[in-house]
Amino acid sequence: MIDKGIQVGAIICFMIGLCSVSCRKERLDHSIPVQAPTPLILKIPEHFPKPIDMLENPLTVEGVQLGRQLFYDPLLSANMQVSCASCHHQKLVFADGLALTAAGVSGKRLLRHSPTLINLAWADQGFFWDGGAKNLESQAFGPFTHADEMGMSLVALAHRLSDSELYTNLFQLAFDEKPTAQGAAKALAQFQRTLISSHSRYDQYRSGQNSQALSETELRGLNIVKQKCGGCHSGELFTDHAFHNNGIDESFTDESHEWIHFGRYRISFNPTDLGAFKTPTLRNVARSAPYMHDGRFKSIDQVLEHYRTGINHTQVTDKLLIDPDGNPGIPMSNQEMNDIKSFLGTLTDETFLNDTNFSNPDKK
Ligand code: HEC
Ligand code: HEC
Repeated sequence: MIDKGIQVGAIICFMIGLCSVSCRKERLDHSIPVQAPTPLILKIPEHFPKPIDMLENPLTVEGVQLGRQLFYDPLLSANMQVSCASCHHQKLVFADGLALTAAGVSGKRLLRHSPTLINLAWADQGFFWDGGAKNLESQAFGPFTHADEMGMSLVALAHRLSDSELYTNLFQLAFDEKPTAQGAAKALAQFQRTLISSHSRYDQYRSGQNSQALSETELRGLNIVKQKCGGCHSGELFTDHAFHNNGIDESFTDESHEWIHFGRYRISFNPTDLGAFKTPTLRNVARSAPYMHDGRFKSIDQVLEHYRTGINHTQVTDKLLIDPDGNPGIPMSNQEMNDIKSFLGTLTDETFLNDTNFSNPDKK
């Protein structure tokens, strides 16, 4: 009896499954629940750590597709001219090549530099330079509503998306619900978690695919980076995702700008977090100039010179940047700086930068 019941159930399920594949269009038109979205398993390279737990917002093919469509759509902004991609360009590692962009709806310059968006499925200590957003699901409400980014009200955003047949359909397929700002944020989070960069020349070497992939200079550079930079730019992701003061500022007297240069302190109110910012990854760094939370350094050379001779020694400078005698800076010879720079170049991942799964879906 029971067996038979299961069998019949299975057959019915199978038929419903078939129907929802073949009748998907009709079903949408009648707004009957569609088949469950297709789970998407991220391909994690063997030498990478385990990504964050995504049980709250599991990746699906349909969710990622919706997120990708939204990422490139200026419909999300008040003047219909600004998309996420206006400040996050794939070819520039999803940063924008500018110190401080003015590409938002108001045309006003933002106070912080657009960061790269790669390997975010591992970022477990918050988003933004100061970690002010707990996860990607909440992060997107920042750009949606910020007057100098997309300048939308969440209600207007939901209306815009609901007025679109494309989005009504895509939301139905991904979440079996009508468009909402929260759903949009979830889908954007899913898409961004697929932005995995793991095909650099360094990865070929590290994964054992090609033990000859790095030159002698680059190998020396790798060792120096592990030794001198690995305290913060650690592991295979070349970041600990944590917050450090890397000595770029001498003082913190930023009353006018919402404490934007106070760094992590703005969130934690912990005095030791003054001027501490999230460690950016070194992956693809040769393509993501300018550097730091305000884009103050134009080149890798300037960054390396900062670490060698430019560190400000304040009470909050990270201890890793002060030697046992109390002298600030990471000692490096010219040769060592050259080796580091060569190595950083091996972290460029052309496969990622040109991956058509990440590009504007309307511009194939
Ligand atoms: C007008 C430019 C602009 C637009 C539009 C924009 N961003 Fe950003 N984005 C920035 C800047 C600047 C920051 C850094 C802000 C900060 O840390 O205070 C940032 C930070 C982020 C971060 C944090 C990354 C990290 O590692 O902490 C994510 C994720 C992100 N943006 C995704 C998006 C998404 C998704 C959209 C569209 C909904 C979007 N951005 C729209 C400029 C922009
Ligand atoms: C004490 C931790 C720490 C150490 C050690 C450290 N860094 Fe950093 N690094 C940071 C932080 C934090 C930032 C971001 C600071 C900011 O934005 O204001 C950063 C930023 C950078 C950037 C800019 C990346 C970008 O996308 O803007 C580069 C490049 C860089 N570091 C390279 C290095 C190299 C090379 C070394 C070793 C010689 C090194 N760092 C050592 C913490 C560290």
